[in-house]
Amino acid sequence: MEQYAMKGGSPLVGEVEIGGAKNAALPILAASVMTDETVYIENIPDVRDINVLLKAMGGIGVLEKRTSRHCVTINASQVHTLVVEDDNIKKIRASYYLIGALLGKYKEATVALPGGCNIGSRAIDQHLKGFRALGAQVHIEYGLIVAKAEKLVGAHIYMDVVSVGATINVMMAAAMAEGQTIIENAAKEPHVVDLANFLNSMGANIKGAGTDVIRIKGVTRLHGTEYAIIPDQIEAGTFMFAAAVTKGDVTVKNVIPKHLESISAKLLEIGCEVEESDDAVRVVASKPLLHTHVKTLPYPGFPTDMQPQITVALALGKGTSIVTESIFENRFKYVDELTRMGADIKVEGNTAIINGVDKYTGATILAPDLRAGAALVIAGLAAHGYTVVDEIQYIERGYEDFHIKLQSLGAQIEKVQTDRDFQKFKLKVG
Ligand code: EPZ
Repeated sequence: MEQYAMKGGSPLVGEVEIGGAKNAALPILAASVMTDETVYIENIPDVRDINVLLKAMGGIGVLEKRTSRHCVTINASQVHTLVVEDDNIKKIRASYYLIGALLGKYKEATVALPGGCNIGSRAIDQHLKGFRALGAQVHIEYGLIVAKAEKLVGAHIYMDVVSVGATINVMMAAAMAEGQTIIENAAKEPHVVDLANFLNSMGANIKGAGTDVIRIKGVTRLHGTEYAIIPDQIEAGTFMFAAAVTKGDVTVKNVIPKHLESISAKLLEIGCEVEESDDAVRVVASKPLLHTHVKTLPYPGFPTDMQPQITVALALGKGTSIVTESIFENRFKYVDELTRMGADIKVEGNTAIINGVDKYTGATILAPDLRAGAALVIAGLAAHGYTVVDEIQYIERGYEDFHIKLQSLGAQIEKVQTDRDFQKFKLKVG
C-alpha cells in the first residue's frame, strides 16, 4: 500500500497552480450525457473519483476520450443501457449524478446507491423528493436507485436541507422537464453555479444559480458545447492552510479569490497575511498563529471540506479555539490521529475544543477520508521529525499530484510503498 512519508519543519514557499474543481467536474461530466452531440471539457482534474465516473460512463456506452491530461471529449449518442452498476461506482458519491442526468434525458435511470467518504450518514431523501416532485417513480431495490417517469413535469420544490447534491441532481432532471421548476432553499456553492453555466451553454434555461432560488425552464433538447471547469476552491484552501501551518509563504494561482473569501477571512483572523490579485491569493505566515472560532456552513459560509485543515492550524494557535461541524456528524475522526502528533483537542458531539500546542511531533497515522487525509499531511509537514500517512488512496480521490505540488513548494515528502523505501527516504533527507 502506498503511503506519504515526510519530514516536517520546512516552511512551504513558492507558487502552486490549482487544478479544476473535482466537485464541479463530477456533475458536469455526468450532465454531458444529456446530449447526443459531442461535448468538450477543459480543466478536468486527473483524480481518482473523476476517473471512476468516466469509466462507469464508458460502461453504459458513452464515448469518452482524454485529448490531454485535463481535457476530455464526451459523446453519449451510443448509450446502450440506463443501468449503471460498475463495481467502483458504488465507492463514489457522485455516481448519483447519473440519475439526474439520465432521468432528465431518457426519463429512466438505474444507478447503484452512492458511497463516498465516510463522514456522516449522507441521506439522499431530498434527491428522491425532487425527482418524485417532477413526476418520477423512484424506489430502491437490491442496492440500486431505480427512477422512471412517463414524462417529467416542472414543479415547485422546497429543499428541507441545503444540499449540494440534491440541488444539482434536481437541476439536471428539471433542465429537460416540461415547464418551469423552482428549487427553493437551493445550495449556492460555486460548483452548483458552474453546472448551471455548463447546462446553459448546452441550451438549458436556468436562472438564479448562486442564490437560494433557482428557476429552470425545461427544454426538449440540449446540444454540444465547449466548457472549462472552475478552479478547485478546496484544493486552493488546502494549500493556503499549508502555508499557515508551516509558517510559509505560498501563492495559489489560477483561483477565483471570491470563492476563497471565508477561507481568507479565517486566515486573517489567525494572524496570517493574505494578498489577493485577479486570479491568485498569497498567504504569508510570519507571526505565531492565533486562536479563533469557526462553524462550518453551506456556501458562502466556511466549507465543511476545509474543517480538518483549519483544525490542524488552530491546534498550533495560541489559546483555545472552538470548531463546530454543522454539515456532517462524523467529520472529526482524524482528531485521534492528530492527538498522536501532540495536538490537544477534545471532541464533544459536533464540536472540537482545541487548546493550541507549540508543536506537532511526527507519527505514523491513517488518513480517514479525503480532506482529513490532506489535513494530516499538512500537520506532518509542520511536525518535528518524520511522519508517515497511510491510506493515501483517500487523498488521491480529490488531489492531483498532491505530494509533487508540495515538493515544488519545498516540502520533504515522498510516496513510499515499503519500510525499505521509508528508510531510504530518511537517509536522503537526513
Ligand atoms: C457535497 O457532498 C460534496 N461532494 C462534499 O465534498 C461536501 O462536503 C458537501 O457537498 C458539502 O459541501 C461532492 O460534491 C461530490 P450535501 P453532498 O448533499 O452533495 C444532508 C469532498 O471532500 N442531506 O450538500 O453529499 C447531508 O446528510 C466531499 O470533496 C440530507 O439530509 O453533500 C448533509 O448533512 C466530501 N438529505 C447535508 O445535507 C439529502 O437528500 C449536506 O449534504 C442530501 C443531503
